[in-house]
Amino acid sequence: WAASAHNHEDFLHCLSLHSPNSSSISKIIYTPNDSSYSSVLNFSIHNLRFATPQTPKPQVIVTPLQVTEIKASIICAKTTGFQIRTRSGGHDYEGLSYVSDVPFIVVDLINLRSINVDAENNVAWVQSGATIGELYYRIAKKSKTLGFPAGVCPTVGVGGHFSGGGYGLMLRKFGLAVDNVIDAYFIDVNGNLHDRKSMGEDVFWALRGGGGASFGIVVAWKIKLLQVPPIVTVFTVTRNLEQNATNLIHRWQYIASKQDDRLFIRIIIRGVNSTNPQHGSQRTLEAAFNSMFLGKSEELLPIMQNTFPELGLTKEDCIEMSWIESILYFAGFPSGQPLNVLLDRTPLFPKRFFKAKSDYVNEPIPKAALEGTWELFNEEEAEAAEMILSPYGGIMDEISESETPFPHRAGNLYKIQHLVYWEEEGEDIAERHINWIRKLYSFVGPYVSKNPRAAYINYRDLDIGMNNKNGKTSYEEASVWGVKYFKGNFKRLVSIKTKVDPSNFFMNEQSIPSILPSW
Ligand code: FDA
Repeated sequence: WAASAHNHEDFLHCLSLHSPNSSSISKIIYTPNDSSYSSVLNFSIHNLRFATPQTPKPQVIVTPLQVTEIKASIICAKTTGFQIRTRSGGHDYEGLSYVSDVPFIVVDLINLRSINVDAENNVAWVQSGATIGELYYRIAKKSKTLGFPAGVCPTVGVGGHFSGGGYGLMLRKFGLAVDNVIDAYFIDVNGNLHDRKSMGEDVFWALRGGGGASFGIVVAWKIKLLQVPPIVTVFTVTRNLEQNATNLIHRWQYIASKQDDRLFIRIIIRGVNSTNPQHGSQRTLEAAFNSMFLGKSEELLPIMQNTFPELGLTKEDCIEMSWIESILYFAGFPSGQPLNVLLDRTPLFPKRFFKAKSDYVNEPIPKAALEGTWELFNEEEAEAAEMILSPYGGIMDEISESETPFPHRAGNLYKIQHLVYWEEEGEDIAERHINWIRKLYSFVGPYVSKNPRAAYINYRDLDIGMNNKNGKTSYEEASVWGVKYFKGNFKRLVSIKTKVDPSNFFMNEQSIPSILPSW
């Protein structure tokens, strides 16, 4: 980034020259002098770790209303020496869509969120700036028996989510969001707009799970819509340690990935504080078996009786609803809320500081190791910590590792998301919590996938490795983190990146590096 003076006036001037309607440019530009700059910047920040006064801020935020304004932003950032951070929903766990150490602008796609559902042909076009909640809502408005297998939290942005894979409670039946993407509009480093045909199958492959931000800017995605039954069944059965939680979690490891592929039972493990007359105030561990079945409870109950009777699921635990109502249920909305709450981009729960990590599990974790893990949840920093265990199997076992860049397919019993939250600002507070989650990660290390210790790119974790900050990153250096996210697909991603963006313009701490032969 030695290029130029990083003067945002130069960038704005360039933008007005390159925009078809230069008089409307002021409507899509925010600089630190504008009164609404902070609210526009903060609105889509979901991790408060990256909303402190010390967090580096963009010199300009551009909120394009049309594709030509994205093209102009790319061309002008290049010529004036700014880095671009592209933001769709802003849920990146490490803030990479709106934080950089070098002078940068944010291209925020919040205004590009149109959704066009064609229920007759079971397809839809969705722009990257839409949230998955908006997408689900628009599908449900057109059909009661079509759905889409993406994430759980409705405020997640389509752009980043699809770029990294994207999964939710229909993973075992329909795979990831990207397994159901059939076309895309993408703008390359020269500002050219492509569809699947003109970008070519290599780039189209890379966009579907190779992680956002490396190849260019994806404007819109064409997706296949999938048949869901008119009634699905959900349940949440919670057990604490005294109610046999450890044995149930242990047993779950053997059956969850081998179930009927319509059934997804995840486990959310957390410590809870309670008081009881005998022991006074106490902290115990709780496991919530949180589940969706694509069918009615009368069909689910015998399946559970045959495969997981230990959980003791009863008819009373089961709630039948439509697929779209299940989206509200898992998002945490109280029952009876109108569906249009899915259009709200403001999160249901207050924003917090957090750090997350991920793991894949190939062999059941022994009981003693589970018990050792629970010990860590008694520590002060784990007050608001969670482990979320999501089963694999089903169609995930049938899709080859190289079908998309997302490689975590057959052989995985489940994925773990480790999370720790806190509410107060302060470097020492952040450090204590981050150290706690690193300790947890190190404790479970012997029991999870190895060589590589696999990770999910959408649960971005800069601890697993980063590109060089001020220089070129070699293939070997980038492989440290790249192989964990992409396994054998990393090599192909690097080769595609080198072709599509040889100067490595689109870069961040974990972008796919361009490796030119002269390096
Ligand atoms: P954001 O805008 O921060 O982008 C993420 C990355 O993609 C950045 O590097 C960004 O530059 C890049 N990018 C964004 N838009 C782009 C575009 N149009 N073109 C090119 N690059 C682009 N995941 C999951 O699989 N299932 C789940 O259920 C959940 N649930 C969940 C809940 C909550 C509360 C959070 C905070 C996160 C999740 N996630 C998740 C993880 C989520 O999938 C991940 O953070 C996505 O990258 C978020 O996409 P956004 O567009 O919101 O992020």
